[in-house]
Amino acid sequence: MKLPFAESWKIKMVEPIRMSTLEERKKWLAEAHYNVFQLKAEQVYIDLLTDSGTGAMSDRQWAEMMLGDESYAGATSFYKFEAVVKKIFGMQYVIPTHQGRAAENVLFSYLVKQGNVIPGNAHFDTTKGHIESRKAKAIDVTCDEAKDTQLEVPFKGNVSLEKLEKVLVENKGNVPFMVLTVTNNTVGGQPVSMKNIKETCALCHKYGVPVVMDSARFAENAYFIKTREEGYADKSIKEIALEMYKDIDAMTMSAKKDGVVNMGGFIATNNKEWYEGAKLFCIPFEGYVTYGGMNGRDLNALAVGLMENTEYDMLHTRIHQVAYLASLLDEYKIPYQRPAGGHAIFVDADKILSKIPKEEFPAQTLTCELYLEAGIRACEIGYMLADRDPVTRENRFGGLDLLRLAIPRRVYTDNHMQVIAAALKNVMERRDSITRGVAIEWEAPLMRHFTVKLKRL
Ligand code: F0G
Repeated sequence: MKLPFAESWKIKMVEPIRMSTLEERKKWLAEAHYNVFQLKAEQVYIDLLTDSGTGAMSDRQWAEMMLGDESYAGATSFYKFEAVVKKIFGMQYVIPTHQGRAAENVLFSYLVKQGNVIPGNAHFDTTKGHIESRKAKAIDVTCDEAKDTQLEVPFKGNVSLEKLEKVLVENKGNVPFMVLTVTNNTVGGQPVSMKNIKETCALCHKYGVPVVMDSARFAENAYFIKTREEGYADKSIKEIALEMYKDIDAMTMSAKKDGVVNMGGFIATNNKEWYEGAKLFCIPFEGYVTYGGMNGRDLNALAVGLMENTEYDMLHTRIHQVAYLASLLDEYKIPYQRPAGGHAIFVDADKILSKIPKEEFPAQTLTCELYLEAGIRACEIGYMLADRDPVTRENRFGGLDLLRLAIPRRVYTDNHMQVIAAALKNVMERRDSITRGVAIEWEAPLMRHFTVKLKRL
């Protein structure tokens, strides 16, 4: 008999969680203004809000925490971490920051000027926020395949070279860089192929435009290249990662994802001029350049996390779990962005709550319904997050309206996946009775989804 698949780790420490009652959840959700960001974590049974900073560290990472060097300058922890970044990404200059958006803040403070145009394959919300708050413009150049959730293609995160070239031609001299996000979070944790990475770099470089890789889930992207792209099956994840970064000019990293730490980030580049320029912003914003907002112990844990999470077994265990959840959703005929992504399943809320008009935010409504059903906290990646156009102030209804089930790394078991799928099935079964959504009572001028106050219609 062929042995079944099992995780490439065993559990050494556990954290109790508790299921609440429907009455409790109704009260808590109303108190949270129907915005799950406003819930207390203890009011949540299974927390799928994000895979960011929510992973479980390994015993090796915890052991390294004890060896952290907390010296203000030149700590051994920095050099350990720097050596790993150089090895995995082939980048010579490394600046730690406390998380991904801090890396964006430091690098973009140096690179982005008012009126600039910055193309990207679906910029993450903080990335877009750091561009728009500098009065520059982020233009999405993701391939059109990503818009059709039911289309099954292997690299839905890809850049459309046609769209990219149009932006480069129309904005000659005004594009300081392009952002290439791997995996493409916003369209469903969908990977970018090695071919597309190389072609994107070649096209940008032809127009003299550098490429910045938003690298939060680079290792998951490398896993998909290995398992889906011709010619990579026999290469190791580390070999693939190195190849992914060969033509890249700089990277920003949220280490809270594929670094498997609870907090951390960095910038890396081979461009000495950019390094010197960014350094000047690191010191006032994040701290001296050998710690940049991170503890020595956290740099140590990150060094180990990066090495561990670029091993095939670790990635296979994780992506296998996400695919398992997808297989349950298939069984229950729940539509999601196909194929299953690396870090999450993105449920097509528009297709489930089809009676709710877009002005009443179907995916945000589904977030509420899933929480009421089983205390599961998911995250809206849809019209609420898309926010308003900074100039016209109109809601941006052009993209997809998705409910993201982000799976933390090494945290939940496959039994939890069964609960999630069953809860969604129950919501699906009573969807005809869900005819009204939510309305905004108060919103912030930028990145509204974190703090928005809603009422249930
Ligand atoms: N880039 C991508 C692709 C991200 O997904 C995130 C964060 C960031 C940058 C910013 O990094 O959080 O460390 O400051 N994504 C989280 C999420 C928050 O839930 O997808 P950060």
